[in-house]
Amino acid sequence: MKPLILTSANGTPASKYSFGTMQFGGKADKKESQKLFEASRDAGLNFFDTAYGYTDGLSETYLGEFTAKERDNLVVATKCAPVAGAASTYIRTQLDESRKRLKTDVIDVLYLHKWDDSTSLEETFSTLAELQEQGLFRYLGVSNFSAWQTMKAANIAEKHGVRIDILEPMYNLVKRQVEVEILPMASSEGFNVAPYSPLGGGLLTGKYSNGLGGRLAENKTYNARYNNDWMHETARKLSEIAGKIDVSAATLAVAWVARNPAITHPIISARSVEQLAPSIDAITYELSDELYGEISAATRAPAPATDRSEDS
Ligand SMILES: NC(=O)c1ccc[n+]([C@@H]2O[C@H](COP(=O)([O-])OP(=O)(O)OC[C@H]3O[C@@H](n4cnc5c(N)ncnc54)[C@H](OP(=O)(O)O)[C@@H]3O)[C@@H](O)[C@H]2O)c1
Repeated sequence: MKPLILTSANGTPASKYSFGTMQFGGKADKKESQKLFEASRDAGLNFFDTAYGYTDGLSETYLGEFTAKERDNLVVATKCAPVAGAASTYIRTQLDESRKRLKTDVIDVLYLHKWDDSTSLEETFSTLAELQEQGLFRYLGVSNFSAWQTMKAANIAEKHGVRIDILEPMYNLVKRQVEVEILPMASSEGFNVAPYSPLGGGLLTGKYSNGLGGRLAENKTYNARYNNDWMHETARKLSEIAGKIDVSAATLAVAWVARNPAITHPIISARSVEQLAPSIDAITYELSDELYGEISAATRAPAPATDRSEDS
């Protein structure tokens, strides 16, 4: 099944690449955030990703200001239920707050940020169905769900007349778990896929091999996520490949993610316009089959979904 073509309110198709605003109001102050927004628009992007839970609401607030003058041309995605859970009351209050911060009556894409074990899917999806029916958001997504969680949720959503349109999983050269179940499921079921962290939070730029600092040094969660020697070795190998052909490692890392046919909307990001440049270069970079193979061989592939694979 083919994924739905996502459009803005005035029918403009969502750009293939999306810009993630998790740094707005955090590592990027308001002025730099605006420059990042404008650089993304100049590069042809009209799809922006934020979340209720980012930077105490500043990410949504800034994005709301920047998007106001051309809101109908843009596709704005936000996420609810990050920590508090997907109970009806949280979804309703967070969606209301997100709409206020984003200065919009209608959110284009609303994701559940995480799976919530403590709330029934019936409660979550009947609430979402009602809110979509009221026209408060247009497309529905789930983020960080496993494949079985997605399918279970999709079945219950369908019972309430709602469809899951898009998934937002982590995906990069050293985080390839989605290749096992999520991406084949997305191709089979027609889910759009907007993967996050194509640079592994900065690891794949190669800067840590060069002794430079950044998110992995500053943020405990990211440090733990990428604290494996083999991942750093992959980053080093990617930089070596990039150096040989005089292309930025970041460009190759993003182009590698975007190359997977199940990926519909890779989310790029940065804390400054200068950092963003190589990710924007990936938009037009043509990754050959040979180079794709060489880059893939620089990392570990995940085990297949079933153990009975030797005779297939
Ligand atoms: N659904 C979810 O749970 C979830 C989770 C994470 C992200 N997201 C979304 O996906 C978006 C992208 O995720 P991400 O920020 O993790 O993406 P990423 O592309 O893997 O990492 C971006 C970070 O890498 C570093 N970087 C980028 N370009 C660089 C360059 N040229 N040189 C050196 N360092 C560079 C910067 O961090 P430093 O300078 O600080 O090192 C930058 O903030 C987010 O904005 C957010 O919208 C969603």
